[in-house]
Amino acid sequence: MKVFAINSSARIGGESKTELILNHLIKGMEEEGAQVEVVNIFKKKINYCIGCFTCWTKTPGKCVHKDDMTQDLFPRYMASDLCVMATPLFHYTVNANMKTFIERTLPFAQPFLELRDGVTRHPLRQVPPATVALSVAGFPEYSVFKQLSSYMNFLYGKSLRAEIYIPGAETLALKTDTPVVKKLLDAVTQGGKELIKNKKISAETMKVINTPTSDFESMAAMGNAFWQACIDQGVTPKEFYKKNKPVKDS
Ligand SMILES: Cc1cc2nc3c(=O)[nH]c(=O)nc-3n(C[C@H](O)[C@H](O)[C@H](O)COP(=O)(O)O)c2cc1C
Repeated sequence: MKVFAINSSARIGGESKTELILNHLIKGMEEEGAQVEVVNIFKKKINYCIGCFTCWTKTPGKCVHKDDMTQDLFPRYMASDLCVMATPLFHYTVNANMKTFIERTLPFAQPFLELRDGVTRHPLRQVPPATVALSVAGFPEYSVFKQLSSYMNFLYGKSLRAEIYIPGAETLALKTDTPVVKKLLDAVTQGGKELIKNKKISAETMKVINTPTSDFESMAAMGNAFWQACIDQGVTPKEFYKKNKPVKDS
């Protein structure tokens, strides 16, 4: 199975929590024999859709832009069996990089209107790959993903194979050595295996993935103290961690 994994976080290279979760999912997929390609789209040139509808009329299926989307990403996306859309939660939905990617997939649809399950849809020119939605958020409640989940379900319908949403991700990433977080990350890897083997994640595995790793009180206490320290020291979180890195004994 060919998997195309898109990470839209700008903080890739160790700092991204989207990347942390995505890496565990991919590990499981590869262990089950999948061929996985990961693309960090933040580094790619993806122009905004300009709504010209050239891809629907003059050059059906072909976008007017000449950028990384037309020349590289869209063909790879369409050639895959499964696409993991991994995005940080920004303002309760996908971030702008991911939204730009999604808008640029318009060429796989045709302009005509048809009713599908009682709702107006565009017929497909080419069938896109099945989707796995993956997101991480700062806040600790699962309800922060409500809007994103609703959007992904409406957009991809029955081809949405799984939704992996991790709240409280910033604090979770500081506790990757603790049994509770290890259990969660192992469950994500197990989810990756199951997606390749069974095309879905079992209820049992999803239950572990959906088990909270922090509550509001402990997260707020830790988070608020951290932000106050950043403000007091006049540093960004990245600079804070660099400056306050624990010195290891030699
Ligand atoms: C512009 C912006 C908007 C955000 N919006 C939300 C939000 O609506 N809800 C939430 O829980 N966290 C929000 N966050 C926090 C991020 O989801 C969180 O920091 C996440 O770990 C970022 O993913 P990354 O580490 O892969 O970049 C936001 C962060 C930024 C920078």
